[in-house]
Amino acid sequence: EAAERGGYEHFMIKEIYEQPKAVRETMTGRLAKDGSGINFDELKWTKEDIGAIKKVAVVACGTAYHAGIVGKYLIENLARVPVEVDVASEFRYRSPLIDDQTLTIVISQSGETLDTLAALKEAKNLGARTLAITNVVGSSIARESDQVIYTWAGPEIAVASTKAYTTQLVVMAMLAIYMGSIKGTLTPAKVGELCQELRDLPNQVHELLEDVEPIKTFAQRYGFNEDVFFIGRSLDYAVALEGSLKLKEISYIHAEAYAAGELKHGTLALIIEGVPVIALATQSDVYEKMLSNIKEVKARDAVVIGIGLKGDKEIEKYVDHTIYIPATNKFLTPILSVIPLQLLAYYAAVTRGCDVDKPRNLAKSVTVE
Ligand code: G6P
Repeated sequence: EAAERGGYEHFMIKEIYEQPKAVRETMTGRLAKDGSGINFDELKWTKEDIGAIKKVAVVACGTAYHAGIVGKYLIENLARVPVEVDVASEFRYRSPLIDDQTLTIVISQSGETLDTLAALKEAKNLGARTLAITNVVGSSIARESDQVIYTWAGPEIAVASTKAYTTQLVVMAMLAIYMGSIKGTLTPAKVGELCQELRDLPNQVHELLEDVEPIKTFAQRYGFNEDVFFIGRSLDYAVALEGSLKLKEISYIHAEAYAAGELKHGTLALIIEGVPVIALATQSDVYEKMLSNIKEVKARDAVVIGIGLKGDKEIEKYVDHTIYIPATNKFLTPILSVIPLQLLAYYAAVTRGCDVDKPRNLAKSVTVE
């Protein structure tokens, strides 16, 4: 096993460091070399088929579900198609309104999660077109689905998903751009710009992984707190959900993610002196509102770690520590902003002496209901 870990102490940290490669490989062959757009040669649908999609239903569990939430923002904004996202264990039991004009996308790293597989079968029974986004070639979900887009993350061993998530986000972004260019909601110039920004991502992920010392220090300093809150708006909220799950899964710290605007409807009552709050502020359209939320928690003496875009000097004035991510298109920021949160969870778990790769009570692939 040590040999498989390739010199890393845990699979999780190895997989975190594999993300530049995983992100790059997931894009390989799918980004047109001349910058003109996205190719999904594996999709057997015609442009007319894609154009006829009236609704998208995304179904997944755990981290893959969080990738689905990011996907909703991307597809709705870039392709202007309505998207609903369900956890697979709920989907089947709520009489979903699915028909032949619905594209059901199931996301699953392993391709074996039983609830996700059952939801896929249900969507097929209801007449929907189905698309799987999975990391495992020939998995049950890949076989059952009409069409498959593989994430090329390579084997993911650690129970806590990292590179599978970032590559799922890459596929979701490419799919949203692809649908947007077919539907005509994105101009060719905009598509070209987004493709260039996608192309820059692997180096930006690499850059984020070069200096992890500050994150290690925060984790050591706050790793023994019992409660941590993650707040954000818009796409930052979606990433907050994943950051909070990562921390819970492997460090056993109670963590909650809140849409920052919801704080005052309850959670603010829990913000007292010294409570760590991770505040994501990477989305320009809600930036000012996010700063007000940061001020709200600072006024209750929380310890705030801000996640901001490189070059943002404003945020530093209101938080205790800042982690910067490289600037990219706002729709692609989750692929970068999740990295410090993965590292924070990892180092918190290490600090607490937890079994990072095999957390208690959890399995890599859940094949029971
Ligand atoms: C388990 C794993 C998670 C994963 C979830 C969904 O709970 O511990 O890391 O996100 O299953 O797995 P899947 O293979 O369907 O993506």
